Amino acid sequence: MTQTRDPSRVLIFDTTLRDGEQSPGATMSHAEKLEIAGMLDEMGVDIIEAGFPIASEGDFAAVSEIAKQAQNAVICGLARAQIPDIDRCWEAVRHARQPRIHTFIGTSPLHRAIPNLDMDQMADRIHETVTHARNLCDNVQWSPMDATRTEHDYLCRVVEIAIRAGATTINIPDTVGYTAPRESAALIAMLLERVPGADGIVFATHCHNDLGMATANSLAAVEAGARQVECTINGLGERAGNTALEEVVMALKVRHDIMPFSTGIDTRRIMGLSRRVAQVSGFPVQFNKAIVGKNAFLHESGIHQDGVLKNVETFEIMRPADIGLNEANIAMGKHSGRAALRSKLADLGYELGDNQLKDVFVRFKALADRKKEVFDDDLVALVQDSAANTDSDYLQVRTLRVVCGGGEPATATLTMVVGDGEQTIERQGDGPVDAAFNCVNALFAHQATLQLYQVHAVTEGTDAQATVSVRLEEDGRIATGQAADTDTILASVKAYVGALNRLKLRREKTSPDSDTRSISMYSH
Ligand code: KIV
Ligand code: ZN
Repeated sequence: MTQTRDPSRVLIFDTTLRDGEQSPGATMSHAEKLEIAGMLDEMGVDIIEAGFPIASEGDFAAVSEIAKQAQNAVICGLARAQIPDIDRCWEAVRHARQPRIHTFIGTSPLHRAIPNLDMDQMADRIHETVTHARNLCDNVQWSPMDATRTEHDYLCRVVEIAIRAGATTINIPDTVGYTAPRESAALIAMLLERVPGADGIVFATHCHNDLGMATANSLAAVEAGARQVECTINGLGERAGNTALEEVVMALKVRHDIMPFSTGIDTRRIMGLSRRVAQVSGFPVQFNKAIVGKNAFLHESGIHQDGVLKNVETFEIMRPADIGLNEANIAMGKHSGRAALRSKLADLGYELGDNQLKDVFVRFKALADRKKEVFDDDLVALVQDSAANTDSDYLQVRTLRVVCGGGEPATATLTMVVGDGEQTIERQGDGPVDAAFNCVNALFAHQATLQLYQVHAVTEGTDAQATVSVRLEEDGRIATGQAADTDTILASVKAYVGALNRLKLRREKTSPDSDTRSISMYSH
């Protein structure tokens, strides 16, 4: 069991695979969850919340596998305050070297009303379920959901019950992102002062970012005595997301002078994880996002550039290398070989298997022929494209020709593999993307609706690659697709087809990737 012995050590609890994945549209496949968990473990995350085992067969399978594979981190599963939930959670996490059961119930007046429990009945439920969890597992975390809107007296009462029943970590969630830094600190201080037995356990802070204060609220809680921060990579999560891991970790590192706390995170792995999570979740990182945004270390205005050239500390409070970002951004030329590519990708945080490396190498050569300079960001886009769209997909784009302009409707001619055979079709549309998508729809019938279509230029220049993200919805299932190409229309079609492939897979499976959102968060 991970315990904070050093009073200045802050445990990092990553919930990208649970609270992050709960975000509509962020559903990850089983293999992707395993990969992200492996990266988090290597990065030094103390506790990985791997999923919500009762929510679906897929979540159960992912949590069990992650539990078996984890080397260092505590593996935690979420369970509502119900005996079958807790039993299912234990079944999944018990394989871990260090398992943890995390059970929760909504304690604020609004949340108490839903399962229709009065204060005493809820207190009894907490006692019963935490005791049950503790009989199964030595390491039990308990959360009063919506703690920041729970009456203080009642919060103290139920936290004390959970501690007496054996909880080893008490997590204080700001479920709706409502609190503010001073209040967040005062709440933790109040609990530490008033709850008997509080000094023997770890208090955690779990913030949502609805008012943009999740990181500030988490740091304030740490200053008041919380020693576990719950967070996600890129701040992934429902609505405005959760506290961003990279922000908390780097704030504690850079401002150690005024916040003298440490974490076990290898910060040089931040960028690789950020990119991979953005890719598998289909949620691109905003350009000006703190720490991991594309512009976070860019100094474009003349005055800044001048200052940075003379002394980097003029405008830089941390070095790009601290988060695993290479300062020399020119990646490779067209004469670079496969070994150089492998080593460059490793620098960027990608360890590719032989087959994927071969594929990325072919794509790299083709790109280097078309583009003068291949930058790091181009390589990242290539790797992401190669992971998202493969030769074994049911639908594969072969060629696309589009004619548009001159006052005529755009016409697209698409050749695509559909299952075993290749087919070619021509369709018109309201612009080149619409025409190309109409071709796909004519070759592959579906009911999906387009929820998101986003285009980003990877680098500068008219020869830049475009990365396109597409999100589709069909019968409540959501799938995303991403692709990169110097031809924006081709990238769009590949991303669209990628999302259709994922939707098809999801439809065919008995639902291993099914959304945890389909389960009610309330304990009845
Ligand atoms: O935000 C929240 O309250 C949660 C709980 C389930 C811990 O995610
Ligand atoms: Zn949450």
